[in-house]
Amino acid sequence: MKQFIAGNWKMHGLAPATAEFDALLAAAPFPADVAVFPPLTLLGHFAAHAAGRIVVGAQDVSAVAGEAARTGEVSAQLLAEAGARAVIVGHSERREHHREDDALIRAKALAAQQAGLLPIICVGETGAERDAGAVLAVIARQLADALPASGVYAVAYEPVWAIGTGATPTSDQIAHVHAAMRAHTGPSIRLLYGGSVKPANATAILALPNVDGALVGGASLRAQEFLAIIGAARPA
Ligand code: PGA
Repeated sequence: MKQFIAGNWKMHGLAPATAEFDALLAAAPFPADVAVFPPLTLLGHFAAHAAGRIVVGAQDVSAVAGEAARTGEVSAQLLAEAGARAVIVGHSERREHHREDDALIRAKALAAQQAGLLPIICVGETGAERDAGAVLAVIARQLADALPASGVYAVAYEPVWAIGTGATPTSDQIAHVHAAMRAHTGPSIRLLYGGSVKPANATAILALPNVDGALVGGASLRAQEFLAIIGAARPA
């Protein structure tokens, strides 16, 4: 199986960024399965341009299915119709700034599945939880409470203290958490690592056992950097 390299653009994507997406597309085919999660304003446009060469997805989804009076929310069906094939749920920025808990994340993942979207569920400990020696307990609780019983496409291990900070866990720390996640999920769910992945550390991270890909934030915004990470994927 090819590794899965996903770029989470977060709230970036003003006009010059579309040229980066075009540069990325121009480099297809890739040695990995590649996905981009742009802001919603660009999703339909990117999906149409990608024409299947890159998976285009959303960074969040409503837990409410169908058409409903939910100002500002976007349902999984609307995302699918706009061309999304996947959706990130439970990113730590949504857990922190929008007070999302595991029950809501699970409901969002189920809504995504029902509309045929591939859910990518994020888990990860805070720095304080790591200092308290609670890493595996936190991950186990999040997996137990946030994952639907079946149909999850990928789980991304994203230590909160490593996101956007330049700090990363050691290879041993990543391998340790991924082995524990594998024991929980079984072989069919892709396990991604996320948090300050960049060209300089991608080869080492993507070579670790039970790491099936990466969720990349800042370094996915420049095609050249993102392509270097994609190029570091372990051959299928
Ligand atoms: P980062 O973000 O690569 O900029 O640390 C990763 C993420 O939040 O998914």
